[in-house]
Amino acid sequence: MMVIKTKSEIELMHEAGKLLAACHREIAKLIKPGVTGLDIDRFVDKFLSEHGATPEQKGYNGYPFATCSSVNDVICHGFPTDKPYEDGDIVTIDMVVNLNGWLADSAWSYRVGSVSPEADKLLRITEEALYKGIEQAVEGNRIGDISHAIQVYAEAEGLSVVRDFVGHGIGSKMHEEPQVPHYGPAGKGPRLKEGMVITIEPMLNIGGFKAKVDADGWTARTVDGSLSAQYEHTIAITAEGPLILTKQ
Ligand code: MF3
Ligand code: CO
Repeated sequence: MMVIKTKSEIELMHEAGKLLAACHREIAKLIKPGVTGLDIDRFVDKFLSEHGATPEQKGYNGYPFATCSSVNDVICHGFPTDKPYEDGDIVTIDMVVNLNGWLADSAWSYRVGSVSPEADKLLRITEEALYKGIEQAVEGNRIGDISHAIQVYAEAEGLSVVRDFVGHGIGSKMHEEPQVPHYGPAGKGPRLKEGMVITIEPMLNIGGFKAKVDADGWTARTVDGSLSAQYEHTIAITAEGPLILTKQ
């Protein structure tokens, strides 16, 4: 079911989003060689509880951590571990904040120390692809307009778009309708209406788009071992255009 939010509900989600954005800004300062995913995960747990919020991912379908920590060829849903990040790694930190029952979701890829030109380009284009999608998140457009804008931009840069994981509606539940693919034809899919809140969260790979999931049941990696990046915002569709609730 598509859930339309009132202006005051969107304001509450915006509060969750601002807290999430503040948390990402702190993470950006912490990420460096030698830091571990578990260090970041503990920081997020503490930061959110100090601000009266909770990490919605912990316990969601049995997921054990506050954050996902997806390093290099991991596309998404990587477990934070005690293995230190190394100079040249790329890592995506993904989290969902619950503040007073309302959620916001944002993933961000980070450079650990200095990264290769190829990795640097992957992160830059993936972030830009997110904003290409957001530009299309206007009333009257269809979900496919978002999907298509992202795919065209990514593929023109020689990158591939992950198919197996998609954006989603969000509100008081992490996953609501509609699904938001990051590939596909324009002009198709549900029409965007004022009051809808969705995530747009493209995952782009340097190699092929195919993904496989590790034996832990969560960690999704590129089949060919190539690097993968992801940027995600939570977006409200408003009469004034797309409102980025998780803007940093
Ligand atoms: N932020 C992710 C999403 O876009 C989180 C799902 S993973 C889980 O849906 F760990 F929370 F299950
Ligand atoms: Co999401």
